[in-house]
Amino acid sequence: MEMNYTEKLKETFSGRNIKAYVHSFGCQLNVSDGEKIKGILKEIGFSFTDNPENAGIIILNTCAVRESAEERVFGIIGSMKKLKSENPDLIIGVSGCMTAQEKNLERIKKSYPQVDIVLGTSAINSLPRLIYEHIQNKRLAYDISEYADFSCSAEQVRESSFKASVPIMFGCNNFCTYCIVPYVRGRERSRNADDIINEVTELVNNGYKEIMLLGQNVNSYGKDLENGLTFPQLLRELNKIQGDFIIRFMSSHPKDATKELLDTILECDKVAKHLHLPVQSGNNNILKAMNRNYTVEKYLETVNYLRSHDSGFSLTTDIIVGFPNETDEEFQDTIKLIKQVEYDNIYSFIYSRRNGTKASTIDDKTPEESKSQRMRELLEVQREISDRHYKRFIGKTMRVLADGKSKKHEGFLTGKSNEFIIAEFKGDESLIGQFVNIRVTDSMNWAVTGEII
Ligand code: SAH
Ligand code: SF4
Ligand code: F3S
Repeated sequence: MEMNYTEKLKETFSGRNIKAYVHSFGCQLNVSDGEKIKGILKEIGFSFTDNPENAGIIILNTCAVRESAEERVFGIIGSMKKLKSENPDLIIGVSGCMTAQEKNLERIKKSYPQVDIVLGTSAINSLPRLIYEHIQNKRLAYDISEYADFSCSAEQVRESSFKASVPIMFGCNNFCTYCIVPYVRGRERSRNADDIINEVTELVNNGYKEIMLLGQNVNSYGKDLENGLTFPQLLRELNKIQGDFIIRFMSSHPKDATKELLDTILECDKVAKHLHLPVQSGNNNILKAMNRNYTVEKYLETVNYLRSHDSGFSLTTDIIVGFPNETDEEFQDTIKLIKQVEYDNIYSFIYSRRNGTKASTIDDKTPEESKSQRMRELLEVQREISDRHYKRFIGKTMRVLADGKSKKHEGFLTGKSNEFIIAEFKGDESLIGQFVNIRVTDSMNWAVTGEII
């Protein structure tokens, strides 16, 4: 029983006031895992710090989606050698998606003796045992086994008191040819609908105002469950929960964005009027080579359906620039698509080769310089689009969840509107964590400004 290790560690560490530093990289699912890890550490009796130099235990919760993310983590682990020599009792752990790759484990064993614990993505509940084993044996303790245990024994330590992430499924079955996620997160596993509904109900009762449902492709939620709800059915159930709150979700795969889903979004009052719909490319050949299983035409049908009901419906997307052998013409189709769709925001990435994926075997002839040039062009075009597109809100009323103080303007607060637009407005700090209605007075290409009404 894992419980025993928590009890043993409580005794070992009692009265020593040890602080933990937990840093999550990557997507919101990983951040959510980081909150579970914190929950387990809290049960052992650790408190938390934002400064690794004050920590007695450090956990780096890693992401493997792009090479740059991995190299950054190895850089940070390298720099922690100094902390370890100053404090030999310091425990350094690595968790998250990077641990699922044999080559990273080998590299840690070989070159980073300062690492004490390696905790696989399916092994979060083993953390107390690994800490215990490390203390007993004074060497690297690791568990990267692949059992599908995703229930967490401890209560999450959430970053926010009004915004909560709720994973509804884990893993991915899609095998987009560029992507490492299916290899590091395994196959799709959905959580039981009752567990999700109970968790959301409890969060709402505890004052949470925004619930973010998470999965690599939430649209395939429930397909692996016997008599499970579909994702639209789950949304409708959550929409019935009493209380003033907003439901968001990500990510939604365009191939599975059914009319039923779109109608659900349009009809449910608590579901945000915004859809993050990652397109990746605006060219059908590239989409095929990516194994995305939709065409530009099919994607636009989805966009048009939403826009025919709400002409300003907010959309955001992910784009990969420079997929192996993407030509300039093919890239221009992406430019054409973003002009046509008018996204409020795009998250764009230069293609990163990931060992083990299908695309990694392609002999890529596109020069790196062309890829960076395309990236610059994409960002510039999107800046103009956002600039123009955000003007549609001027003079309108927006419902915004105030989430903090503006770093740029004294006396101003920031927040996210229902449409997922950043808003800045004058207001008292006491409003943070509450919904406010603002009238939009001006817009920029990344936010709107307004006045509380
Ligand atoms: N499951 C989500 C996204 C997960 S990863 C989805 O399908 O939408 C988030 C984003 O990272 C992806 O949408 C993609 O744009 C980007 N990405 C994934 N693998 C990548 C790679 N090898 N190189 C560059 N960007 C990548
Ligand atoms: Fe990766 Fe594709 Fe799965 Fe998203 S849907 S996690 S991009 S394989
Ligand atoms: Fe990265 Fe793992 Fe998320 S690879 S994007 S942290 S699922």
